[in-house]
Amino acid sequence: MYNLLKGKKGIIFGALDSNSIAWKVAERAHEEGATFVLTNAPVAMRLGTISKLAEKTGSQVIPADATSMEDLENLVDKSMEILGGKIDFVLHSIGMSVNVRRGNHYTNQDYNFTKTGFDVSALSFHRVMSVLYKKDAMNEWGSVVALSYMAAQRVFPDYNDMADNKAYLESIARSFGYFFGRDKKVRVNTISQSPTPTTAGSGVKGFDGFIAYAEKMSPLGNASALECADYTITLFSDLTKKVTLQNLYHDGGFSNMGVSTGIMNEFMEKEIPKDAKSE
Ligand SMILES: NC(=O)c1ccc[n+]([C@@H]2O[C@H](COP(=O)([O-])OP(=O)(O)OC[C@H]3O[C@@H](n4cnc5c(N)ncnc54)[C@H](O)[C@@H]3O)[C@@H](O)[C@H]2O)c1
Repeated sequence: MYNLLKGKKGIIFGALDSNSIAWKVAERAHEEGATFVLTNAPVAMRLGTISKLAEKTGSQVIPADATSMEDLENLVDKSMEILGGKIDFVLHSIGMSVNVRRGNHYTNQDYNFTKTGFDVSALSFHRVMSVLYKKDAMNEWGSVVALSYMAAQRVFPDYNDMADNKAYLESIARSFGYFFGRDKKVRVNTISQSPTPTTAGSGVKGFDGFIAYAEKMSPLGNASALECADYTITLFSDLTKKVTLQNLYHDGGFSNMGVSTGIMNEFMEKEIPKDAKSE
């Protein structure tokens, strides 16, 4: 380990279980010398295993629903108390679509569900930064990272309304990032991560096909949750101080591919008649 986060203080949203990307980030941040508060929605405290992570990393857990300003204000105040000062890094690793969960097709959404998913997955990022900004809770050269997916730019039919939520999330990173950078010297970025087998990821219809396709398409293969955590650590570290307002692809090269030989071969085998092959 490199002590990349020695002395830094943070807040990590979204560790549900040991598959969660946020869980890996917490483990890596701990290894790199950071201290931090863990947070998740009150319901996740019951469903998940966050207390194990807290024990392992010597952290305290403060429940907060990321759609509640009251909860977020309490979280930021208490975190500064516990950590003994301002915050250096924040991870927003939150996503949920009720339409996906209920199997509603993109063309036939329940708009109340759409609103809830948007509030949880996208607007919450604005809320978190707004509370940090107004309370002047971030240290200069601090770093805020949220997790996104390429469906914000390209069509992935079964990603459903989460595609629109991610597009909005990435836009918030740029728009809020401008003010956070100008006024407080804080950087804001999103990481666009490969499909990853977690609770949120596996909820997407056809996820197995999705992840296998991306694996074959990417020259370096899919990025794992741990590799995503490593990348996130660099963005929290002082080695990336002038990186801001970016959506950074962490996907083994998938986002710049047209087609790979692995994918081509599948179609060649299927489409070229056996007779033709043997000639
Ligand atoms: N898994 C993937 O394939 C993949 C790919 C790209 C991006 N992402 C993104 O990574 C992030 C983390 O997801 P993950 O894959 O680790 O899955 P995960 O299910 O482990 O994490 C999602 C988290 O969101 C939390 N959450 C839901 N509603 C909340 C609320 N109201 N308040 C606070 N927290 C709430 C959940 O409790 C959970 O901890 C999400 O933004 C997701 O969209 C995931």
